[in-house]
Amino acid sequence: MKQSFGQLQDGTAVSRYCLRNEQGVTVSLLDLGAVIHEIIVPDRTGQLADITLGFATAQGYAESTTYFGAVIGRCANRIKDGAFELAGQPYQLAKNNGANHLHGGLFGFDKRLWTVDSLTADSIEFSLISVDGDQGYPGTLFVSVCYRLDNNNQLSIEYRATTDQETLVNLTQHAYFNLSGQLGSTVLDHQVQIFADHYTPIDASLIPTGAIAPLAGSLLDLTQATLLADVIDKPDEQLLLAGGYDHNYVLNSAGDLTQPAAIVRHRASGRVLTLYTDQPGMQFYSGNFLNGNALGKSAIAYPKRSGLCLETQRFPDAPNQPDFPSVTLRTGETWHSTTVFRFSVED
Ligand code: GLA
Repeated sequence: MKQSFGQLQDGTAVSRYCLRNEQGVTVSLLDLGAVIHEIIVPDRTGQLADITLGFATAQGYAESTTYFGAVIGRCANRIKDGAFELAGQPYQLAKNNGANHLHGGLFGFDKRLWTVDSLTADSIEFSLISVDGDQGYPGTLFVSVCYRLDNNNQLSIEYRATTDQETLVNLTQHAYFNLSGQLGSTVLDHQVQIFADHYTPIDASLIPTGAIAPLAGSLLDLTQATLLADVIDKPDEQLLLAGGYDHNYVLNSAGDLTQPAAIVRHRASGRVLTLYTDQPGMQFYSGNFLNGNALGKSAIAYPKRSGLCLETQRFPDAPNQPDFPSVTLRTGETWHSTTVFRFSVED
């Protein structure tokens, strides 16, 4: 199903597409940013609600830096000083987060109009071409992302990318979840469980120090289901640096798509989100930078921590960290990755 979603200031038309399954779950997507605009799922009593943050208008997405629901590229997360070397060549990327490069730069994939390559009853595939030099990255990159909603309430996201010159790629999905369905409330009443024994500690500009550190004994250890309200404001050096959780977890599932990487529970509604991915890392971001300025769907001014993100990825600043898995893509290779969000309820 295709609908108009208005237009951008330059007149570009934006469209919205809806996938619906036999359980009554609906996922709506935009060609702008390949954004997930709405995810409507039942609670334990069958009550349907939208559980993802977003804007009511195309212009809302164009003007914002919250990355609500968008596909992020070419490189998710931060690259220190926006600088890296590839094949002996230095490159300078757009700086859009202090001195650093964040989420693909000033005009990242979240701001692009994607092409719809295929639309079926349960899936939609978007693609875009990022030209040589885009935001400072070398090579022309051909990217596609396919969203599929099945009847087990699983939304799978499959990314592919190829290049005509050695370059960097690290794609992710930046949906903010609030399983309560009350998008003006905080997620402090959510329980988060992340199956990771290690993480990559950060410095004051949220750039990884390069270490891969154990989580045991720290407040960042979420291997047991943990109510965010119980931990997020405790005095902890790493939590204070980010104003909450904004850290890359080194997943124990280590690329095994059949092992859960994280589970988020909202006990009051019974809604549960389980995440699976073939990526080695996941940024757990607790919406610390939301501040009520983003006026969203239904005129909700999203307050601090009103949504949480589970951004599957290779590790931040990988091009400058020899011990992190590589984000280099070469000609002739296909970058391929899958992440699955499964929605369920429990008593
Ligand atoms: C990511 C980053 C955060 C923040 C958000 C967008 O999750 O890690 O620091 O930039 O995106 O606001």
